[in-house]
Amino acid sequence: MNVIMDYKKYIAEKINVDGVTTAEIEAAIALPPNTEMGDYALPCFRFAKVMRKSPMAIAQELAATVKPDGVIAEASALNGYLNIKIDKAGLAKSTLEEIAQTGASYGSSETGNGKTVCIDYSSVNIAKPFHIGHLSTTVLGGALYKIYNFLGYNVVGINHLGDYGTQFGKLICAYKHWGDKEEVEKGGIHAVNDLYVRFNNEATEEMQAEAREYFRLIESGDKEANEIFEWFKSLTLAYVNKIYERLGVKFDSYNGERFYSDKMQPVLDELEEKGLLKTSEGAKIVDLEEFGMPPCLILRSDGASLYATRDLAAAYYRKNTYDFYKCLYVVAYQQNLHFSQIFKVLELLGKDWAKDMVHVAYGMVSLEDGAMSTRNGRVVWLEDVIERCVEKAYAVINDKNPALENKREIAEKVGVGSVIFGALYNNKIKDITFSYDKVLSFEGETGVYCQYTCARANSVLQKAVGIDYSKYEIPALQPQEYEVVKALAAFPDAVVDAAEKYEPSIIARYAVDLSQKFNKFYFDCKILTAEDGARNFRIALTEATKQTLTNALGLLGIGVPEKM
Ligand code: ARG
Repeated sequence: MNVIMDYKKYIAEKINVDGVTTAEIEAAIALPPNTEMGDYALPCFRFAKVMRKSPMAIAQELAATVKPDGVIAEASALNGYLNIKIDKAGLAKSTLEEIAQTGASYGSSETGNGKTVCIDYSSVNIAKPFHIGHLSTTVLGGALYKIYNFLGYNVVGINHLGDYGTQFGKLICAYKHWGDKEEVEKGGIHAVNDLYVRFNNEATEEMQAEAREYFRLIESGDKEANEIFEWFKSLTLAYVNKIYERLGVKFDSYNGERFYSDKMQPVLDELEEKGLLKTSEGAKIVDLEEFGMPPCLILRSDGASLYATRDLAAAYYRKNTYDFYKCLYVVAYQQNLHFSQIFKVLELLGKDWAKDMVHVAYGMVSLEDGAMSTRNGRVVWLEDVIERCVEKAYAVINDKNPALENKREIAEKVGVGSVIFGALYNNKIKDITFSYDKVLSFEGETGVYCQYTCARANSVLQKAVGIDYSKYEIPALQPQEYEVVKALAAFPDAVVDAAEKYEPSIIARYAVDLSQKFNKFYFDCKILTAEDGARNFRIALTEATKQTLTNALGLLGIGVPEKM
């Protein structure tokens, strides 16, 4: 069952006027000044010319063709206007019934059954800081993962590890010179990063040459070099996995760049076969000038592969392994060119599935107190941002409600939720400035505000224990109630829209909108003390709101505390 939220569109589709498109009719539908007449009105004056009839006659004719259907309650004609009344009680009834029946799966569907979506996201670099710049890809990808799953798709979350490159030769060299096993074991990724920073600052010519040799050793399968590398990798993964767990994201594959380093031959052969490979200054390239792009570098003059080469191999592998319906790359817009090149090369190779590859680009995150910078040591680790939000959340909760039980647990949900919501609230392509105060505000358009609304709904329900509110007649709806009903009914469409646009912000904004409407209802209308008829319906409306908000926040990876 699909509940209708887009009434204008719905109504327009029921109206036929020769020579006028549905879109034009939709655009002409207006809100009448007086809802006694109807909820929507279509002025018929503009059709008089095409229909060669008076507006009054047209309105009457149309009124006769638009029949009540559970969404539309009544159509009538008045002074050249077609007035439409919506069946609000019908909408309230079907929506609340559906939410009560489906519960945690309200908004889900099976449209994606049998289709696989690959999502390449977070894709960390081994032994490098996991910093605030990785926030967006991690939570955007994590949300898209849940959204697609909710719509019935089989989803494969891929962490395309940055685990290949000359920097690992440098790291091993630095470790050999200055490292200490115990210290690294204890300091984990931070200690490894320190070694890397030190190498970049202090390495001599000799050490640079040594580093190149170490890289060669990793490549040629040298036991010791590989052991050290694997150790750094496991330290990095242990570290990021803890953060993933807090953010509620997961991966089905950690096949990174190294995994593809021996899977590039089929791509190279095919490029050669199809005459796409050109030699330029000793390097192998695919010329993309015709498409207004610089060439895609495939092999360096020393025969080494590149980021793009490994991505091409990865694309082949994913298509062969998962036969994806779509393959998403949640990567910053700085890599726009890279993905345009990869997709174009696949297209030139004649892969019709190149059209199913999508670069889900997003903007930069910086902190209020200055840009996040990875050079010159001013790295803002994502873990520290999360930790600080959780601490601040704890302080606020402790201040507002010192007697609350499980304050630590709640602070974790609120703090982590505030980070996620802060990163997902804006259209993904926008650059954002992360502000601790803003994301933790109870009043703003925040995750905290939505969580607090849920807790508020929950406290109403706690007080309603013992009342059997499962049976109710839908009363003549107050505007505040109707707004909540409409918002609830809109949730399934919001989920579909978010998936189609790769835009979890649609769900974040939806959650704020529903929260605002519920709060207006909560403050303007009595719930538990309303007279009998209205009371049960209002409690049911409260319960439906809590459920739907919980579902919406859940899709973003945000948990909802029962109390706050
Ligand atoms: N590790 C890369 C980076 O930090 C992102 C990898 C994205 N995925 C891909 N298939 N290229 O820039």
